[in-house]
Amino acid sequence: MRVALGVGGGIAAYKSAELARALAERGAQVQVIMTAAAREFVRPLTFAALTGRKVVTDLFPASSESEALASAVEHIGVAQSNDLLVVAPATADLMAKFAHGLADDFLTTLYLAFPGPVLLAPAMNTNMWRHPATQANLELLRGRGHAIIGPEEGELACGMTGPGRMAEPAAIAAAAVNLLNRKRDLEGETVLVTAGPTREPLDPVRFISNRSSGKMGYALAEAAAARGANVILIAGPVHLPDPPGVKTIKVQTAQEMRDAVFANLEPATIVIKAAAVADYHVANVPQQKLKKTAARISIELDPTPDILAELGQKKGDRLLIGFAAETENLRQEARRKLLTKNCDMIVANLVGQEENAGFESDTNEVVLLLATGSTVSVPPSPKREVADRILDEALKLRLALHAAR
Ligand SMILES: Cc1cc2nc3c(=O)[nH]c(=O)nc-3n(C[C@H](O)[C@H](O)[C@H](O)COP(=O)(O)O)c2cc1C
Repeated sequence: MRVALGVGGGIAAYKSAELARALAERGAQVQVIMTAAAREFVRPLTFAALTGRKVVTDLFPASSESEALASAVEHIGVAQSNDLLVVAPATADLMAKFAHGLADDFLTTLYLAFPGPVLLAPAMNTNMWRHPATQANLELLRGRGHAIIGPEEGELACGMTGPGRMAEPAAIAAAAVNLLNRKRDLEGETVLVTAGPTREPLDPVRFISNRSSGKMGYALAEAAAARGANVILIAGPVHLPDPPGVKTIKVQTAQEMRDAVFANLEPATIVIKAAAVADYHVANVPQQKLKKTAARISIELDPTPDILAELGQKKGDRLLIGFAAETENLRQEARRKLLTKNCDMIVANLVGQEENAGFESDTNEVVLLLATGSTVSVPPSPKREVADRILDEALKLRLALHAAR
């Protein structure tokens, strides 16, 4: 295990010395890279002594021309010779630079050149952490599939209390080992995921839709791809970047989503229907925009195709996972859906009440109802972690169902 450990300029930089040791204790060869600001807090010598390696500090350290040429490619060498990049503390500044692709020192340049998994341990003052700029950068980095650990709540060096403290070195080291050991347990599988809302036109300019953001489905697609699956993502209109390494097909209406699902069903071994498909649509959409008048109007709606039910009939050996977003009687409704739609698992989440769960949130709290009769509660967690739990349970469920046959 070869780890590049980037240290940013925050008070928590001293804790990264302990992290370097914790990583080395777990058998890692650690290459430390310090930013100029980090060197204001801790001397490179500390890290060099702990890791037995020269610490990288500058992008252009050499004075002579030949030495400059050797060091000019060093970040590429470090990028290619390490399995994991850990950045701790990840300062607000580093997060911003990584998010936007700025590369004005060794660590930020290495980040762009590094093809492997990235683990970030942010640490900063609570207000810096909560600032919309930092939160937007965090979202970009998370969306890129990077693992984020912490920050934790507590009393900070600046005297404030709140989120901002760097995760403990032992926890960061454990997360680093987990990331490297993450199984490619979906290799050979084709996972078909649907995500987001659908849009049902009322006329050429208006539509009916719902509050689904697509984040849960995108997290599932990303997690499945990271675990080695071939992933097909069929998404309604969402404001999310296409996940890397995933075949993404964009649709608008329930009918288009149905057609795309069945056109791509053949190779799928696992189908996950995370989309919030509209239940009703206008059958004959007017060609022209409806005119405003003083009169009350009513719109006649017809049911849209029930994609999950049709999949239940045609699934064959595929594992079929549906979602139930309910505002009441969650488990009852989910159980009904599991049986009537012939699903193997229903991911049930209560929507409309919890702030940290459901449609637009970055976290989710769900209950998994399995065809074996058991249920698994997933506590409030980032959607990417929920996605991994769903995939873990899907694989276990398939083994259980095969054994039962
Ligand atoms: C005493 C002191 C403590 C700081 N602590 C933090 C911190 O914990 N987190 C952070 O994001 N920035 C912190 N900063 C600000 C960063 O050092 C500054 O943004 C710097 O440009 C970061 O550079 P780097 O991201 O290249 O390491 C601190 C600054 C000072 C002077």
